[in-house]
Amino acid sequence: MHDILEQLEARRDEAHLGGGEKRIAAQHSKGKLTARERLEVLLDEGSFEEYDTFVTHRCTDFGMEANKIPGDGVVTGWGTINGRLVYVYAQDFTVLGGSLSETHAAKICKIMDMAMKNGAPVIGLNDSGGARIQEGVASLGGYADVFQKNVLASGVVPQISVIMGPCAGGAVYSPAMTDFIFMVRDTSYMFVTGPDVVKTVTNEIVTAEELGGAKTHTSKSSVADGAFDNDVETLRQMRRLYDFLPLNNREKAPVRPFFDSPDRIEPSLNTLIPDNPNQPYDMQEVIRKVADEGDFFEIQADYAKNVLTGFVRMEGQTVGVVANQPLVLAGCLDINSSRKAARFVRFCDAFSIPILTLVDVPGFLPGTSQEFGGVIKHGAKLLFAYGEATVPKVTLITRKAYGGAYDVMASKHLRGDVNYAWPTAEIAVMGAKGAVEILYRSELDNADKIAARTADYEDRFANPFVAAEKGFIDDVILPSETRKRLCRAFAMLRGKTLENPWKKHDNLPL
Ligand code: HXC
Repeated sequence: MHDILEQLEARRDEAHLGGGEKRIAAQHSKGKLTARERLEVLLDEGSFEEYDTFVTHRCTDFGMEANKIPGDGVVTGWGTINGRLVYVYAQDFTVLGGSLSETHAAKICKIMDMAMKNGAPVIGLNDSGGARIQEGVASLGGYADVFQKNVLASGVVPQISVIMGPCAGGAVYSPAMTDFIFMVRDTSYMFVTGPDVVKTVTNEIVTAEELGGAKTHTSKSSVADGAFDNDVETLRQMRRLYDFLPLNNREKAPVRPFFDSPDRIEPSLNTLIPDNPNQPYDMQEVIRKVADEGDFFEIQADYAKNVLTGFVRMEGQTVGVVANQPLVLAGCLDINSSRKAARFVRFCDAFSIPILTLVDVPGFLPGTSQEFGGVIKHGAKLLFAYGEATVPKVTLITRKAYGGAYDVMASKHLRGDVNYAWPTAEIAVMGAKGAVEILYRSELDNADKIAARTADYEDRFANPFVAAEKGFIDDVILPSETRKRLCRAFAMLRGKTLENPWKKHDNLPL
């Protein structure tokens, strides 16, 4: 008996050594942790239960039968984050570069099946050279099996991908189908084809970092939702994000203890809006001043900065925030910001997270590049996302809500549940100057007349009361009381039920 126990220990130790001391040292020398070390940081201490530790590949080509390492390059199982169940996989770069074989894929699929059956999210720590070259089509099949699971799990359990090393070829498409992708600066990159292939095909010379590093994907391509400085910081931030999310699409997000009075008055908000309507201010300030303890987990902070998206809590409950940012492009909606916000709204709706929309938008950004780029279709994504969302929707117009963008930003007409405005709100088809130039074109050479017409238009529309008279705005609120009013609105909406008509699925303007 004793021997058998020792044998088990020896086999486990062998598996834990992955690709061996030398390769572990190489991983460390790049500033990267090993797969198991990463799981230790991500999960609650002692909570990890590993499965399939002894799985090996079945490949016999290219001398592979002599190159079998238990676990086959991915560590899988489950654990807890602040006491809540989570399924995890962590690719082990020390084993054949974390490359994906048939059995490696089967291990990932197994825990994804468990996640769907038992209703808990999946976090994947990716560090892989892509399809296992020696296995050929078997590894391609393995990838497709994982992709199919990603699709079926989408909207059932939250899926988070963390990119912690190279992710090439097939390795990028599974993350791309998950809800969020986060990267580690300087040590991770993602691309479908690497710099060498790019050079051969297009003659472009580009480094791996430029082609697919964290900066590229968080600020240019929008493939990634955020990046952090190193493995430990990234994994700690994933724990923070996890606390905002529900376990699955049938449960609500957890309610966390809060130490911030819902009645907190913020006098500074009474003077936040500048006298000059063209002067910007920072919408982040509004978000942080209404959130519990000022805590805001921003999603896609470096991309399309004219709209802000992320999670806060109000009275301990998770709320998804979408907010125009007047500091960038005057807060206009454009192609990128519409796509960014639409995806966020759809995530919130899929997982029963109420949405707070803060509006200061002068309209859609004009220009040929926007029109040629399909702003009509991309803007429609956001419109569609808000229109189909059945979660509680609370909207606050702080200043401008002009034109189509007024409609889009969770207006009453798109089933906004509670629509508030500050007294500084201006709700109109367009700004006074533009309106007068169209309505009174014949008077344009008479500056006095135009000034009087502009003042007239401003008197009529540069306020929230025309909309409030029609019931499009439920109340005009004091900025200083915003937190209290929003908390009360979300509390009132906690029992909301609303269903869309039955359909197989909708046809979002992609
Ligand atoms: C098998 C692989 C491998 C792979 C790396 N290794 N990638 N083994 N299949 N795909 C092995 C290496 O042989 C090496 O083994 C160890 O992993 C570490 O690799 P290095 O090259 O030494 O590391 P590094 O210099 O850090 O470079 C990492 C890398 C590079 C950039 C990922 O290895 C690389 O370019 N790999 C190939 C990437 C690729 O083209 N993959 C196929 C994509 S096609 P030893 O024994 O020396 O430690 C694809 C199709 C799927 O994925 C499509 C589905 C839609």
